[in-house]
Amino acid sequence: MSFPLVSPPHLASTKIVIANWKMHGDLQRNQALMHAYLQALSPLAPEVKVIVCPPYPYLAQLQSLCQGSVVSWGAQNVAKNVIGAYTGEVSPRMLIDFGAQYVIVGHSERSTAYCESDENIAEKFMLAKQHGLTPILCVGETLLEREAGVMERVVGKQLETIIQRFGGCAFANTIISYEPIWAIGTGLAASVDQAVAMHQFIHETVKTADSDAIQTLKILYGGSVNPQNALQLLQHPEIDGALVGRCALDAEAFIEICKSAVPTTV
Ligand code: PGA
Repeated sequence: MSFPLVSPPHLASTKIVIANWKMHGDLQRNQALMHAYLQALSPLAPEVKVIVCPPYPYLAQLQSLCQGSVVSWGAQNVAKNVIGAYTGEVSPRMLIDFGAQYVIVGHSERSTAYCESDENIAEKFMLAKQHGLTPILCVGETLLEREAGVMERVVGKQLETIIQRFGGCAFANTIISYEPIWAIGTGLAASVDQAVAMHQFIHETVKTADSDAIQTLKILYGGSVNPQNALQLLQHPEIDGALVGRCALDAEAFIEICKSAVPTTV
């Protein structure tokens, strides 16, 4: 099946690789990592789009290091309000002040530790989008849910929460990352078949809700992506890219993963 890609410039490239630095880094290490990234990644554009999501305090550093380069940056979370008495929260407008174009919402490390509900995540997703950020929605099931065979029901509910609240059109020009919770940080990535099956389910769910939105939606895989498994995952036509945690902290490994995303056939 083929359809025209009607993506805005920041989504137009073939594959997207996102570095989620989680709560790692310091000024010096970030600079060294970005120096290595930028040198090696420039020749991969525009086939591979790279987005780096550092901890909040380093957004300004990323802005000064990456402005005008092939690397974009974003945040790992955002508030569900624009302004007000919300101690510790960061609004979408503040992210934009630091040149962020993207924001991760609903990462399982947050939804588990900070009890974020699907409804909360849906609100963050929409507010970010309304303010001009591209939300990167993380969805995925636990090991117990997979073993019970209810993974599509779980991911379906995560998507339906947004669809029912805002319509399927909410997914236009956004990114969904399928992140099985059992694969994150465990070294045990989903197999290509498992990832592709869920990507197809996500594709069909969004397409049924809005056949236009699916044309500009990117569906990524995240969970123990490494230089050994990246090629198989990233060369699959159903997988639009990867969200990388641990291996994004190692310049050599991350660059290798990004290289695996370059299309091998024209
Ligand atoms: P990991 O993290 O690559 O360390 O498994 C992935 C993620 O946070 O999505």
